[in-house]
Amino acid sequence: SWTTGNIVEEQVERIRAQVGNSRVICGLSGGVDSAVAAALVQRAVGDQLTCVFVDHGLLREGEAEQVERDFVASTGVNLYVANEQKRFLEALAGVTDPETKRKIIGREFIRAFEEAERAIMAEAAAAGEPIRFLVQGTLYPDVVESGGGEGAANIKSHHNVGGLPEDLKFELVEPLRALFKDEVRAVGAQLGLPAEIVGRQPFPGPGLGIRIIGEVNQERLDLLRRADAIARAELTAAGLDNDVWQMPVVLLADVRSVGVQGDGRTYGHPIVLRPVSSEDAMTADWSRLPYDLLARISNRITNEVDGINRVVLDVTSKPPGTIEWE
Ligand code: XMP
Repeated sequence: SWTTGNIVEEQVERIRAQVGNSRVICGLSGGVDSAVAAALVQRAVGDQLTCVFVDHGLLREGEAEQVERDFVASTGVNLYVANEQKRFLEALAGVTDPETKRKIIGREFIRAFEEAERAIMAEAAAAGEPIRFLVQGTLYPDVVESGGGEGAANIKSHHNVGGLPEDLKFELVEPLRALFKDEVRAVGAQLGLPAEIVGRQPFPGPGLGIRIIGEVNQERLDLLRRADAIARAELTAAGLDNDVWQMPVVLLADVRSVGVQGDGRTYGHPIVLRPVSSEDAMTADWSRLPYDLLARISNRITNEVDGINRVVLDVTSKPPGTIEWE
């Protein structure tokens, strides 16, 4: 029977056999799949691998550091960081339509990744070692969903900022192709990856960009990031991470309501909590979180995040609601 140790050994052998002495490139999204795929390839071929992290500025509090600092410390991977926060903010300026936001984020992500890729390829070519392989964190359910077969793994790429266009320049290395999500997490833990990455709940590729209802700007991102960090910390402190599938926290940036704080009137934005229970994200129900937890989250967000004066709970199942608001 399979153990996690067996999986690691077998995949390391396969990667070595496939890659030989060639150089390999891998995009990191901050999520568990790309991190575990990269860590396996690093274990197999070490410095032949270069990882690319495009920081679009739309991740949650602490997530960029988890990649740039903790992932690197635990794997020793060569990491190329593209700091593209400004680029994404400029591209998103004035945009409010959800699909347009998604398209812009997806387009800029691919452009930024390809620029990073070209920089790394130039350096590798100068050293006489062209890059032949691209790592993808395709899982078994993705393979099945897309009808199986080699190379048919990309069903989500139009939907997923972490996924790249079918890149004919490279041969694909897909060390997670036979694995389910829980096995991927077990392999990540076995490889010593940070618990925050291994245990990370689903998070959309376009990130906080689609959790700000209205135009995305730096100030709004900062507000949402702080509220989201509080909500996540309280969920974890209550020991309920495993009771919810994910809990989007959404900023209604174009809505304001009147409130009162101390002696003064406030006119701030609402935050929506969207905790859901689900098996596969295709359908979902709203999670019946304990009232005292909801009260703590609400008190802390309204006290600690200037500009937020109301916290509301989304009690819609999917369907008819989707999990994300955009
Ligand atoms: P919805 O909102 O459609 O979300 O009910 C279903 C699941 O997909 C996630 N999601 C995304 N994941 N790129 C991703 O990688 C995306 O563009 C994207 N949009 C939604 C969402 O968080 C939920 O888990």
